[in-house]
Amino acid sequence: MVEGTLACDNPNDEDTVRSTRRNALRRRLLTWYDAARRDLPWRAPPGTTADPYRVWISEIMLQQTTVATATPYFHAFVARWPTVQALAAADVDEVLHAWQGLGYYARARNLHACAREVAARPSARFPDTVDTLRQLPGVGEYTAKAIAAIAFGRAATPVDGNVARVLSRLHGIAEGGSVGRRGVAAAADALADDDRPGDFAQALIELGATVCRPRSPFCGSCPWSRDCVAAAEGRPERYPAPSRRPARSTRHTVAWVVDDGRGALLLRRRPAKGLLGGMMEVPSTEWRPSEWPHAEAVAAAETIVGRLSWRPVAGDVRHTFTHFDLAARLWRATMRQSPVPWGMWHPADRLGDLALPTVTKKMIRHAIGAIPLTTTG
Ligand code: ADE
Repeated sequence: MVEGTLACDNPNDEDTVRSTRRNALRRRLLTWYDAARRDLPWRAPPGTTADPYRVWISEIMLQQTTVATATPYFHAFVARWPTVQALAAADVDEVLHAWQGLGYYARARNLHACAREVAARPSARFPDTVDTLRQLPGVGEYTAKAIAAIAFGRAATPVDGNVARVLSRLHGIAEGGSVGRRGVAAAADALADDDRPGDFAQALIELGATVCRPRSPFCGSCPWSRDCVAAAEGRPERYPAPSRRPARSTRHTVAWVVDDGRGALLLRRRPAKGLLGGMMEVPSTEWRPSEWPHAEAVAAAETIVGRLSWRPVAGDVRHTFTHFDLAARLWRATMRQSPVPWGMWHPADRLGDLALPTVTKKMIRHAIGAIPLTTTG
């Protein structure tokens, strides 16, 4: 780490040098941000305070989603549910439906649970400290710090991937893993700005997203280039240390696409907790590391759906999740519609009314061809 460049006679001088350097870093970054900031719909105009509700929605959406993808969803959400009370009063299925396409549906469930918790507080407002925000559903350390800084002016620096990259380059933090993370967290805490914490947090995020990019960073446009260890070394892309990810695994399933001969499909709801929690899907075997042998899949089909005249569908459906790939073998059958205790029949031309995971849409498209998946009014 580089901290202070002047020789010091005693520790107090050293502290002064550090603090002067930090102030200079803050000042340079904020001056850059004032000129370069993007006009984004969740950002308050300069000199005004951001609405915690809008900050919270945007930060949840922006986890694992780009600004370009999140922006239309943000507009649609705040138009439909302008306040946390309005969102709390919505049905969770409506929220999941509006979230379709953003992925990671647990975020949408938590968003709704969080709105209910906030609306039920005596003040009916968001709490305003990192520790109290952190207790809300779906609000982790990053989001709590982002809301505390941006909406409540608390001196906190949220660290996402962008910010970690900027700080590891600035200070030359070459270690990966927990040592690197601790170094970045300490640097973020040390830099937190008392004066304009919200702008400082967003400026760091902005610098990472637009200038200090993972590849080919624009060091010539960076307000910190003269302070930056990585730039001085001439190889900024060396930082941060690459993370050692375990090899991706593939899980296998057999899924059954069953229609009633009159345009309805048999669907079931996934368990509320876990991957794609509470969303509708076509019934399938457990997703497991090894392939399903034919005889086992037939037995499972008979147990779960019933003894039908099954036709295999040529070609597997593949889908990539964060931590694994799924390979699904599909079977088709037609059965007379009758009540099914674990599922429901739904018209294939009204599937757009449901919050369907992308993997389920892929399976249905693959099994029965192009079907309208948009809302039909
Ligand atoms: N990514 C995460 N938070 C963001 C914000 N407030 N502005 C732009 N991009 C972001």
